[in-house]
Amino acid sequence: MRQFLIFDADDTLWENNIYFERAFEDFVAFLDHSSMNAREVRGVLDALEETNARIHGYGSLNFGRNLRQCYQLLAEREVREDDLRKVMGFAERILECPVEVIPGVPETLAELAQRHDLTLFTKGHPEEQKLKLDRSGLGGFFGHTAIVKEKDAAAYRKLVEERGIEPERTWMIGNSPKSDINPALEVGLNAVFVPHAHTWVLEKQDIRPGKGQLMVVDDFAQKVEGFRASILATDICTEVLKAARLGIYPESMIAPIPAELRQRYLLRAKAGARDRVRIVPELRRAIGFGRINLMEAPYAVDTDQHVIFCRNILIYFDKPTQRKVLEQLCQYLRPGGFLFLGHSETLTGFELPLQLVATTVFRRL
Ligand SMILES: C[S@@+](CC[C@H](N)C(=O)[O-])C[C@H]1O[C@@H](n2cnc3c(N)ncnc32)[C@H](O)[C@@H]1O
Repeated sequence: MRQFLIFDADDTLWENNIYFERAFEDFVAFLDHSSMNAREVRGVLDALEETNARIHGYGSLNFGRNLRQCYQLLAEREVREDDLRKVMGFAERILECPVEVIPGVPETLAELAQRHDLTLFTKGHPEEQKLKLDRSGLGGFFGHTAIVKEKDAAAYRKLVEERGIEPERTWMIGNSPKSDINPALEVGLNAVFVPHAHTWVLEKQDIRPGKGQLMVVDDFAQKVEGFRASILATDICTEVLKAARLGIYPESMIAPIPAELRQRYLLRAKAGARDRVRIVPELRRAIGFGRINLMEAPYAVDTDQHVIFCRNILIYFDKPTQRKVLEQLCQYLRPGGFLFLGHSETLTGFELPLQLVATTVFRRL
């Protein structure tokens, strides 16, 4: 199913905070304080940054201003214009750093962009963020880019409204609990947390569960697997689709499902209809439903399906129709993909690019 994927930029798609950390190290060396160590100096800078970010926002120029203020507060020697310029220079150099794209990012975005709507959602100085996006070479993967002053719940609400996004089908992907994960979960979006070893201290927070789902992955490329799989369930009959969407089944039908999967994906009513089970919402949400008449090609479906289950439907059709439907299904299967038929359905008499690999299971040649 097509999803809306919203990506954070700094420290999710490309390195960012390491350059700020390097600038800070240069600053501490230059300040050369007689009694304060780097951690203590950092504490003063963090406090200044927190206050100033509310007024001025983020970005390397604001960081330069914060370093200057920090120097004015802590310098143990006369504060000269030259020294202030030098301090600001540590931050200005960040702008000249090459954009270092995080490994796995371009391939992952290329794959995801084929199937989903990708949005870039970043905070900071608009020109600076645009420059980094240009230098990264990743701009072409995104259908939309939004640069805001602060990524808080209000900013997410605005994005959802402006883009006409359905929260249940939307994932925010990023490294910052404060700006990516917590506000997205708060407004009902799903979130993928990709921790980064050098996340800025002011972006760290405990993750607060919200309405949406939360996924945590070790690295960016791992995400592809999660979004690659999608399931489309179709039928000609809207009543059948309605029942399928509800996902309620009699207890008697679930016997063949392994216990572990039953525990994970089936819910039992607490009282009342105890002979019924319901598929958990996460799984129901992961399935798309659509009306398709198999006799009316082309079908509104991607043509590179890995697996098609078409069990106990061909039996209703005459031979010429069966041939046509099977020919169509072959067109929607990628080479090496599988077609599952019902037990009383065969391919006998048809010339099709399919090879029998197990009872009622065929592989597309
Ligand atoms: C016997 S059920 C099989 C359902 C399921 N595949 C299974 O094995 O349990 C047949 C289904 O085919 C659907 N069907 C009948 N004609 C169809 C068509 N031309 N296109 C798509 N679905 C059709 C019916 O609505 C019905 O839900």
